[in-house]
Amino acid sequence: MRDSFDILLLPGDGIGPEVVDAAREVMDVAAEHYGVKLSYEERKIGGVAIREEGEPVSETTLEAASASDSVLLGAVGHPDFDGGAVRPEAGLLKLRKHLGAFANLRPVVALPSLLSASTLKREVVEGVDILIIRELTGGAYFGEKEEGTERASDLSVYTRDEVVRVARVAFEAAKRRKRRVTSVDKANVMATGRLWRSVVSEVAEEYPEVELEHVLVDAAAMFLIRDPRRFDVLLTENLFGDILSDEAAMLPGSMGMLPSASLGAPGEPGIFEPVHGSAPDIAGQGKANPYATILSTAMMFRHTLGRPDVAEAIEQGVSVALEAHFLTPDIGGTKTTEEVTKAVSRWVAAGEGVA
Ligand code: NAD
Ligand code: IPM
Ligand code: MN
Repeated sequence: MRDSFDILLLPGDGIGPEVVDAAREVMDVAAEHYGVKLSYEERKIGGVAIREEGEPVSETTLEAASASDSVLLGAVGHPDFDGGAVRPEAGLLKLRKHLGAFANLRPVVALPSLLSASTLKREVVEGVDILIIRELTGGAYFGEKEEGTERASDLSVYTRDEVVRVARVAFEAAKRRKRRVTSVDKANVMATGRLWRSVVSEVAEEYPEVELEHVLVDAAAMFLIRDPRRFDVLLTENLFGDILSDEAAMLPGSMGMLPSASLGAPGEPGIFEPVHGSAPDIAGQGKANPYATILSTAMMFRHTLGRPDVAEAIEQGVSVALEAHFLTPDIGGTKTTEEVTKAVSRWVAAGEGVA
């Protein structure tokens, strides 16, 4: 097991720096507890990079990302840049493409201590444990674009290889879970949807132990609310995955609870980022929920750094803090970002609740 890692911190905009600071504090405590050495470099991405470096992500930052073991990212985006020629979000898209981070893992778990935070009924969300796997470097996000005042277009392209590699990630994950993949597409209307469906079906033949179902995206959006427990691994393309994961955030109760891992080829640095955005409406007020970013660091230790022991310690610290009602306003509490962070750090340091 390695015990020394270089982490690139990209706090970004809005609440990004608040949640990255929180996550770094927890990581440091966990690392110390396990004798792991973390070295950090911090750089700019998003609106803050446009302002200070003239572009949403610089070549130097991309090189630093490639040279790191993993990237921890807060969020990008700010209304100040609406209508501008360059958008902060472009920095994140460029980083994902640069690192070849094609598989975005977004676990959606309704924790028992948080069931009342959901807007849905307890009996609907109880026991929800879904892994959304969103393709991250293809589709309409990265196709040719035309932008004018009379006409605009975003071309959505998928190749066989792009579908195969992300489908394999989904089936491999399903093997270690409840062995069920729901592939979500729009095959009744879109050519990319039909290619997606046929390639996913082919990949499924390599995994006879995993059950595959295909569901159209509009119906999938409905099933997520009607009967979310029917899902185990939900595999989908870039744009659908973006939308469905925000919808799914309301199962645990808040955007502030969803972590993510954006992974490329084995051995490449992953990007670990909360699913939520820069939340300009609450930035600078101490209200940001740091759990999504803290849980993203646990995914970093598990998926890229090869330290599931540290990951579990962080996840246990989060569970204990939630059970002790360390809740920010978005999940029905009154605690600040800092109070939550201190609580998680305390439990991680104590190793309390850790098996
Ligand atoms: P958002 O996710 O920033 O916020 C949506 C709502 O959820 C807001 O009410 C916000 O206060 C709340 N929320 C989000 N994260 C929270 C947290 N950690 N704690 C408590 N409440 C939280 O989405 P938006 O308002 O549509 O977008 C704002 C900006 O963020 C846009 O510029 C968008 O492009 C960007 N964005 C960035 C990312 C990213 O960097 N990965 C993701 C999504 C949106
Ligand atoms: C996300 C965000 C990004 C996306 C934006 C900020 C580019 O919404 O990570 O979900 O659409 O992928
Ligand atoms: Mn999104």
